[in-house]
Amino acid sequence: MPDKNSINIDFHSHILPGMDDGAANTEISGKQLLMLKKQGVEKVFLTSHFDAREESKKSFISRREASYKELLSVYDPDNMPQLFFGSEIYMTRNLKNFDFEGLELQHTGIVLIEFPREPYGPWMADLLESLMFERKMTVMIAHMNRVTAAYEKSVCRNIFDYQDLIFQINTEAFRGIFARDPFKDYSVSGLKFVIGTDTHDVSGRAPDFDRATKKLNSPALAYIRRSAEFMTAKIGRRIEKNKKEDKNGIN
Ligand SMILES: [Fe+2]
Repeated sequence: MPDKNSINIDFHSHILPGMDDGAANTEISGKQLLMLKKQGVEKVFLTSHFDAREESKKSFISRREASYKELLSVYDPDNMPQLFFGSEIYMTRNLKNFDFEGLELQHTGIVLIEFPREPYGPWMADLLESLMFERKMTVMIAHMNRVTAAYEKSVCRNIFDYQDLIFQINTEAFRGIFARDPFKDYSVSGLKFVIGTDTHDVSGRAPDFDRATKKLNSPALAYIRRSAEFMTAKIGRRIEKNKKEDKNGIN
């Protein structure tokens, strides 16, 4: 049996108070963090929504700092996970030459990008290729289970062909009585997967990390579990190494 806590990083959350459509206040933020720790999460990335068409990076980062300061008033390090900055970046055409510094998942260099709520267009593949192959960036696709739900199979196959991408799966993909494979129609063995709650609140979108990771013990989902364990450990090590060297930020 795998160590039950080997998947212990939440890569996607909306916990910073008042930042976006996530936690409305510090009371909710605190509850989310207490729940996550109880559910086995040791580290959580605070990935508030960022849309480069609507806000400058400077403004986003200063709002995020202010929100984080508020969050500290309820932060209890013994009963809450370690906090790391991040952002969920909405995919837009103007990202091709965008300076992402400060928006990455902290201490990792990885950017978390969300496919836009619009029909698939070739510009999206162009953008991903230019970030990965020209700019040599590491890109994580937010809630890949939502992408496969929204786009045609042929499009999703092309996305899965990018073996350098990291695919973040929301815990919602593993809800329900039966453990279903969200990617059963695709050839995805060998790809990189991580888990995120995408928690927005403590009601309809409350954290459910433990229930999801338990589901990963099902044989049908073993390939996701193995990859998520490997990636979580690998990125966890990178965080520990880099946080000693990085002077800015939370930890
Ligand atoms: Fe999100």
